[in-house]
Amino acid sequence: MANSSRAPGRSRRLRAALVVSAAVGLLATAGAVVLPGSASAASTLGASAAERGRYFGTAVAVSRLNDSAYTTILNREFNQVTAENEMKIDALQPNQGQFNYGNADRLVQHARSQGMLVRGHTLAWHSQQPGWMQNMSGTTLRNAMLNHVTQVATHFRGQIEWWDVVNEAFQDGSSGARRDSNLQRTGNDWIEAAFRAARQADPNADLCYNDYNIDNWNDAKTQAVYRMVQDFKSRGVPIDCVGLQSHFTGGSNYPSNYRTTLSSFAALGVDVHITELDIRNAPTDAYRNVVNDCLAVARCKGITVWGIRDSDSWRSSENPLLFNGSGQKKPAYDAVLAALNNGTAPPTGNPTTPPPGAGCTATVTPGQVWGDRYNTSVTVSGASTWSVVVAITAPQKISSTWSGNPTWDSSGNVMTMRSNGSGNTFGFTTMMNGNSSARPQIRSCTAG
Ligand code: G3I
Repeated sequence: MANSSRAPGRSRRLRAALVVSAAVGLLATAGAVVLPGSASAASTLGASAAERGRYFGTAVAVSRLNDSAYTTILNREFNQVTAENEMKIDALQPNQGQFNYGNADRLVQHARSQGMLVRGHTLAWHSQQPGWMQNMSGTTLRNAMLNHVTQVATHFRGQIEWWDVVNEAFQDGSSGARRDSNLQRTGNDWIEAAFRAARQADPNADLCYNDYNIDNWNDAKTQAVYRMVQDFKSRGVPIDCVGLQSHFTGGSNYPSNYRTTLSSFAALGVDVHITELDIRNAPTDAYRNVVNDCLAVARCKGITVWGIRDSDSWRSSENPLLFNGSGQKKPAYDAVLAALNNGTAPPTGNPTTPPPGAGCTATVTPGQVWGDRYNTSVTVSGASTWSVVVAITAPQKISSTWSGNPTWDSSGNVMTMRSNGSGNTFGFTTMMNGNSSARPQIRSCTAG
């Protein structure tokens, strides 16, 4: 299926929702409100990125969701998640034909309850193949790979914003060649076959090619991936985005031409994502540069760091992340947040009559508080018809609403409130259910 035949869907809507969104953090005790676009700066990575039409995410290890220190940072700071290992082929199909979605589903449910976007990682890869697949070749392997893509993308349909359809298919070094693997040996067209199968299974997810060491524009590997994407676009192979893993360590440091790489891929008509960022010893300059480079390229949709605390990292001895092992913010965190806050919001068109899908601003006013519940009102500006996504922290629950049409996600914790002609202010009552400190978060505001 060619890109042009794609149905407008969830992916497009969610992307629009991040354009000038209003990720509003409420400081419950002081009643202070951080407003998007106001002089007061956002105080979390996700909220600040959202104000600039981006996400800021992290890789998550599902086993750590039981660690409250970990989950507290996750829920507070990030508005996008990638499963670090739980959506890999060996995790999802340990025996041929036997799919094991438990851990991956748990992550998706957690993300949805918090209003976070989910990146699927990864459908086809030479690594982390289960034993049964490692032993396959030829048509049998090609069909097994395509079946995996179809089954998994179908299972998660409607819940994944971006799929890393194919991961790490090119060689390092100067050859610019494909990496040798059992998948490559099934024929050079295995990558496009995987993309076509993914598009068919989930037409509304954005489909990405993801790799490491494609950050330096002058590298042969970067150029080879660039040529593949160019070729795919010219032949209508359904590719929407390129993920630059950006593991900056040792031999692959942050390159000064990184912005050129991002903008060059974007110029091919694909979005770019920074998908697995970590930097040895977390230097503030390099982290700041990455953020500034992403913000400078309109099609750079967001940044995902590869773990939360240094102790969670796959290379923990290098301390490459934004939080130390005790969960405290490192200088790199401050540099990233400041760079995000200094970034300009994306253009929104005419602010009084934005086109459908463009942004609006939602401003929260805390209302009356009782022993067991509290009121909140939200005023929308920049649009006369709109939808606003509000996330509630469980076990709190919204018990009643007014002046809008609400719908809910399956968790019941994320409400989408749509205008119903009764003005630009809606409100709701939230039952505390034992949690008296949490307050609602506005995830996005979308006009039209
Ligand atoms: O969970 C088992 C544990 O039960 C067992 O005792 C232990 C010893 O073998 O292994 C544990 O599984 C490990 C898993 O991480 C969870 O910690 C695997 O062996 C190990 O191979 C796996 O490593 C992951 C690696 O990908 C390989 O899939 C890393 O966590 C993960 O961070 C890393 O992520 C990759 C991206 O997917 C692609 N880009 C590069 C990136 C870094 O290598």
